[in-house]
Amino acid sequence: MSTAATRNVLVLGAGGGLGQALIARFLSDPEVGMVIAVSRSGQTKDLSAPWLSQSRLVWIQSQYDEQSMLEVVGKLVPYAGTFSRVCICHGILHDDHLWPEKRFEDIDASAMLEIFQANTITPSLWLKVLHKTLASKLPCIVAVFSARVGSTSDNRLGGWYSYRASKAALNSLLKSFAVEYARRLKNVKLIAFHPGTVDTDLSKPFQASVPEQNLFSAVFVADQLAEIMASADLDGQLSYLDWAGKSIQF
Ligand SMILES: NC(=O)c1ccc[n+]([C@@H]2O[C@H](COP(=O)([O-])OP(=O)(O)OC[C@H]3O[C@@H](n4cnc5c(N)ncnc54)[C@H](OP(=O)(O)O)[C@@H]3O)[C@@H](O)[C@H]2O)c1
Repeated sequence: MSTAATRNVLVLGAGGGLGQALIARFLSDPEVGMVIAVSRSGQTKDLSAPWLSQSRLVWIQSQYDEQSMLEVVGKLVPYAGTFSRVCICHGILHDDHLWPEKRFEDIDASAMLEIFQANTITPSLWLKVLHKTLASKLPCIVAVFSARVGSTSDNRLGGWYSYRASKAALNSLLKSFAVEYARRLKNVKLIAFHPGTVDTDLSKPFQASVPEQNLFSAVFVADQLAEIMASADLDGQLSYLDWAGKSIQF
């Protein structure tokens, strides 16, 4: 069963490369009403983006602690029950003081905590606080950005301990959310999404080893995800899908 026409769209972690591309993709869809974008900065990074001044786009700022997320939920009250697409885009792999571990001696507790906070805890808190906002008769497809490296059965190379584990833990939490949502929020379908290797800040330091044809633009992946969401079924299950819509083994 395909879902009904898209209504309003919520993009959480909207300031990153994939978040921005999703905003542009949904704003280009005449079936979409409003796009609500939430990020730490509360605005786009690309001030020349042609869609910036669209009146159908609303930005909300959040620092992603639970109190500030609840304030976002308060601002979403006028839109409650109208979201047909939600994209949760948070994720860090590296920053100015952390780098993915090559060997177990590189594991650092504070870096691991920072990665879990962004990649695992923040998306889970959104799924906790948003349930009343999403409850509706309108089908609502929620895509949470995971990664193929979060697949335990696919882990042949090791390394990247914290990032891998944060995404594996995210997948596990999403499975539990799917079980409970199937009882309490029957209009919501959850997808753990692997975008492939995408040309954004997150992958920049690692792109040299990626064959050109395997490095996707964020625009391409946003299109792929929009198509995947449009054909998703409300089956009460968590789907773990890649950019081509193919299932990944947990
Ligand atoms: N790019 C790839 O090759 C690739 C591959 C596999 C999976 N992914 C996943 O795709 C998603 C989007 O990544 P991207 O490529 O768009 O990366 P990006 O451009 O670096 O965007 C980073 C995202 O993470 C959020 N973020 C950063 N630090 C955070 C923190 N401390 N707490 C909470 N959120 C934080 C940002 O939120 P703000 O909007 O507030 O800035 C933004 O949404 C991530 O989950 C990533 O793991 C990407």
